[in-house]
Amino acid sequence: MLQLPRLIGHRGAARHAPENTLASLRMAAVQGCLMVEFDVKLTADGVPVLMHDERLERTTDGTGRVQDLDFESIRRLDAGRWFSPAHAGERVPTLAEALQLCIALDLLVNIEIKPCPGRGAETAGIACSLARTLWPADRQAPLVSSFDAEALEMVRHVVPDWPLGFLIDRRPPDWREQAERLNAATLNVNARREDAASIAEYRTLGRPILAYTVNSVPAAAEVFSWGVSSVFTDTPQGLAPALRQFAR
Ligand code: G3P
Ligand code: MG
Repeated sequence: MLQLPRLIGHRGAARHAPENTLASLRMAAVQGCLMVEFDVKLTADGVPVLMHDERLERTTDGTGRVQDLDFESIRRLDAGRWFSPAHAGERVPTLAEALQLCIALDLLVNIEIKPCPGRGAETAGIACSLARTLWPADRQAPLVSSFDAEALEMVRHVVPDWPLGFLIDRRPPDWREQAERLNAATLNVNARREDAASIAEYRTLGRPILAYTVNSVPAAAEVFSWGVSSVFTDTPQGLAPALRQFAR
């Protein structure tokens, strides 16, 4: 049985620390989070790192596309100063570093495969193989999710026994067939596009529904009332009151 806390720290705790950094993962744990989500893509030379955007400008002091820089160049960048001077010097972490920190902090993990264009299968293959070697066999395996169809196929191939999260933004007409074929453990849906009726329909699949990204207590209360199991949030601490209301 998949253990899913009500709150999943989004990119760590993205409102309180620079997203997808080790500082952000630590912040999520400090705020009482039991599970964190982060985004993984490959550098030009194939190193899996934590990064949301295709380009470097928003979350680092670098320029250009992630896929054009090798790891050594990306590692030199500052991934914290854009967020606050206190985080200056923060680096773009590797997937290995993020997983090792989560193991040390006893955090459950959702690895989102967020490939650079055309690198879906490759990103999933490298990330899952690495995670498989690092993750202790006696802990709940990471939930591995993606919007990318080729990435999901590869996840299923490399870690067939691990939970897979089928990420949905705009619902595709064949969502049910896809989710069943992939043996998805969860449906991870965009809270802003859903309502009580659509969540009820998703729930007929019999798998937990996770909703991203929910950052206010009323919004969390609403989606929990629809039967959503867990929410991804940038502010675990800010949603604590919603948790008390919807304790299981
Ligand atoms: O995995 C949930 C959520 O992170 C998906 O959207 O764009 O924030 O990665 P995004
Ligand atoms: Mg994500």
